[in-house]
Amino acid sequence: MQVVRSIAELRAARAQMSGQVGFVPTMGALHAGHGRLIARSVQENDTAVVSLFVNPLQFGPNEDFERYPRTEKEDLFLCETAGVDLVFVPPVAAIYPEQPLVRVTVSSCLSGVLCGAYRPGHFDGVAQVVTILFNLVRPTRAYFGEKDYQQLLIIKRLVADLSFDVEIVAVPTVREPDGLALSSRNRYLSPEERAKASALYRALSFCKERAEQARFDRIALPIEKLEEEGRLFLSKEIPEARIEYFEIRHTDTLERTRFVMNRSRLFAAIYLGTTRLIDNMALFDYP
Ligand code: PAJ
Repeated sequence: MQVVRSIAELRAARAQMSGQVGFVPTMGALHAGHGRLIARSVQENDTAVVSLFVNPLQFGPNEDFERYPRTEKEDLFLCETAGVDLVFVPPVAAIYPEQPLVRVTVSSCLSGVLCGAYRPGHFDGVAQVVTILFNLVRPTRAYFGEKDYQQLLIIKRLVADLSFDVEIVAVPTVREPDGLALSSRNRYLSPEERAKASALYRALSFCKERAEQARFDRIALPIEKLEEEGRLFLSKEIPEARIEYFEIRHTDTLERTRFVMNRSRLFAAIYLGTTRLIDNMALFDYP
């Protein structure tokens, strides 16, 4: 496995690649969720590229850029074991030699809701770095997790709107046995918080069951009613959690609808202490 840190080395390595190139962009601190994306990329392409880069542009001033976990040695080991061919680990100055004056911006239809409403500029920062990485790696396929569903939708639009010749592959959320979605930030949780964190998954599952039952009974279920029930469920299970949002929206457009319908998806973000957890679940999803 080759590890490159400069753009020149990456370009040289890319020029040697033939066939289909799979790409998994990450911020490192890899876990089995990333592992699933990487395994798919290795399996489905001739060459597999992973990037490890904690992108300063997508962190707000009061967010965890400085303390974001950095575990390069372990990450490289995971990549090597998974059969990755090339890992790109640029320093910040390689990606942003100076403050970029040309910026990719995401329309507020997609970035003004859910996480974007609470993290101004976050998705612009994601779109900027993914644009740069796509231009450097020129992948055939790039793999993104449904765990960060809003990000996945925005990347799909980035590729469509800016005509990138890359196929975006969506990978279902990988969870702990108790349902907690794997996340690099889970390591911030105290053992007590960790024990309670799976309540978020249970709240989503509770709402999904309610939605399926209503569909079976042919009852129109207002999204606000179901959201209220879900929030109540969550605050009973973990009263100390602060709910940032708990909202049902359309899977493709993120629009609100009056009633729960096919392709409704539930999105939630909560704080447990200082740790922010996000998750989402399709309420029902028939073709
Ligand atoms: P990061 O949080 O490291 O995640 C990298 C990729 O792994 C994302 O596509 C994310 O959705 C996916 N992922 C994380 N946890 C997952 C889980 N439990 N199951 C499935 N997939 C999971 O997302 C980013 O980095 C950055 O925003 C990035 C796209 C790299 C741009 O900086």
